[in-house]
This record gives sequence, structure tokens and C-alpha cells, in this order.
Amino acid sequence: MIVMGVESSCDETGVGIVEWTPGEGDGPGEVTLLADEVASSVDEHARFGGVVPEIASRAHLEAIVPAMQRAREAAGIDKPDAIAVTIGPGLAGALLVGVAAAKAYSLAWDVPLYAMNHLGGHVAVDTLEHGPMPECVALLVSGGHTHLLHVTDLADPIVELGTTVDDAAGEAFDKVARLLDLGFPGGPELDKAAAQGDPHAIEFPRGMTGPRDARYDFSFSGVKTAVARYVEKCRRDGVDVPVADIAASFQEAVADVLTLKAVRACTDLGVDTLVLGGGATANSRIRSLAQERCAAAGITLRVPKPRLCTDNGVMIATLGAHVIAGGAQPSPLTVATDPGLSV
Ligand code: KG4
Ligand code: ZN
Repeated sequence: MIVMGVESSCDETGVGIVEWTPGEGDGPGEVTLLADEVASSVDEHARFGGVVPEIASRAHLEAIVPAMQRAREAAGIDKPDAIAVTIGPGLAGALLVGVAAAKAYSLAWDVPLYAMNHLGGHVAVDTLEHGPMPECVALLVSGGHTHLLHVTDLADPIVELGTTVDDAAGEAFDKVARLLDLGFPGGPELDKAAAQGDPHAIEFPRGMTGPRDARYDFSFSGVKTAVARYVEKCRRDGVDVPVADIAASFQEAVADVLTLKAVRACTDLGVDTLVLGGGATANSRIRSLAQERCAAAGITLRVPKPRLCTDNGVMIATLGAHVIAGGAQPSPLTVATDPGLSV
């Protein structure tokens, strides 16, 4: 079975194609990557310091049909056996473009359409690299989301354990990078600056880690405000802003809370696999601290390569393959987008 995945929830237009091979007997099936086409409008948003929904939607409109064409050529197919498409969560106008395209091709090719949740895609994509997925906890961190999830089986509904009550972790990276004049998207630049700094130079607050706070929820607005205050004070006092130390200390605070809660969830639930996903898992400290803490707690850490961690169509195709193989029914052509979709 060949599945095409269409993703347009934010600023990446992704079309991926995978092949699903059923397992022997009751054994797990296998997913193979056939095509991975991504067009990004990230550069068009840079001068605004954040993703502008209208610009993202227009860019999807221009990119979607050529991306479909390139993916089919790369995979050497005329049409897939099924189309999986992200219906949410994401930007309303951006989602509409991918869903409209997926519906049109589904109708024209007479192939079934399956509505997918973007968050599940971030977890499922790991099976391409690391094989069948056992029961796991997943930590998704990107510019748009911060979620702690409990996944029993990729074909079954996912349970959300916690999420951010304010900013997404990647968004906090981008905002702090902006405060430090490091450019957009700021996460990678902040990571580079942090490499030259001392992570213990400044003790920034660890949001929602008090005994009465929700065990699996996150908050990053406090640490962001603390950085803003620190920078203001330096400027008021006429001293140089210690950019590298601030970057390293901020990054340490965010990585500390994310990995603490992810490992806590694994331990509480008795789950021995943690999967990371989302663009911000490219962060060097989130990766290294997750590795250290998982090793100490006897947890296996699975992290897809960076190309698969950021938004793409392959993750939606891969989730689609698992869900279809699990016996899901196709979605009607009237299926709607759901920008606020939870898991
Ligand atoms: O998954 P993604 O490509 O797009 C969505 O937001 O859905 O993630 C992009 C986010 C941005 O906020 C970016 O700053 C952050 O991931 N990011 C990083 C790093 N690389 C990307 N944040 C921290 N450190 C990094 N190395
Ligand atoms: Zn995403």
C-alpha cells in the first residue's frame, strides 16, 4: 500500500510518500520512505519576526501542486493508494490549502482520503528510522506546540498528558533570540550562542515545577519575561548584555523542565520509551539532557533525524499508513479542517 501524506499546518508545504509492508502473521508492519518534498516559506516570515498566517497560506497555494508532482516523480508512481492529510491543529487558512488539495486529488484519482492529526504524525515518523513503535511517551516541542503524549499504539487514539499553558517552547526560543538580537527563526541561533556561554551563569525560573503545579503541563512565559528583565537591567545599568551566558542559562532552564517532565511521565506510567519530535528537538541541550536523564532512568530515547523532526509530509504519510493498516475508515470528502484539534 502506497500512502501520500499532505501537510500544510504552518509554514511548511510537505508532500511525502511511503510504502507500507504488512508484517508476517501478527508481526508489525514496516514503512519505507519513497519521497519527501518540502517547500518552506520561513524566509518570507523572517522580517516579521514570526509566521504570518496570510503569507503562509499564499505560499502553500503556490507550492502544493508542484510539491505533489515532484513527490510522485521521486516515488515513480502515477497515484498513491490513499491520501492522508493534516486537518489540524494548525493555522486555519494554511490547513485549508492542504486539505482542499488532498480532497481534489482524492476525487480525481478515486483514492480514499484519511484525516490526520498533525501531532500524531510527529510521533509516527520515528518508525521510519527506528522501526515499530512500542508503547511510549512522546515529547513534542516546536514553534507551535509543546505536548507530552502517551501513545499506546499508533493506530489508536493518543492521550495528551500535558501541554503548555502559554508559549510553545520553540516560540520562547524565538522570542528570547529576538530579545538578544539573534534573528529569526531564533532557536538555532540561540543554540549556537549558548555554546559559548555558561548554563549556570544566571538562574532563570523553571516554570510549573512546584509541588502544587500540574505534573505534566509547561509554562515558558515566566522564563521569557525573566530574560527580558535581565536584558533591560543590563541596558539600564550601562553594562554589556552577556548574550552567550543568557542564551546558555535560558536554554538550560527550558531543557531542564522539558526533560524532567518527560522522564517523570515515563516513570509514572511505567513506560520505558521516550520519543522526541518537533523542530525544537534539534536543540543540542534538549537532546543531551534527554539522553542523560533517560540513561539514568533506564529509558530508551528515540529521536528522529532533524529533517524528520520538523514539519513534513512524510510524517503524515507514515501516520496514515499505521492508521489505515489498523483498520480506519476513510474520511468523507466533506471532512473539515480543525485548527484547534487536540489529540
Ligand atoms: O517543527 P518546526 O519546524 O515548525 C513548527 O513550529 O511547527 O519547529 C520550528 C521551531 C522554531 O521555533 C525554531 O526556533 C525551533 O523549532 N528550533 C530550535 C532549534 N532548531 C529549531 N529551537 C532551539 N534550538 C534549536 N537548535
Ligand atoms: Zn509540527
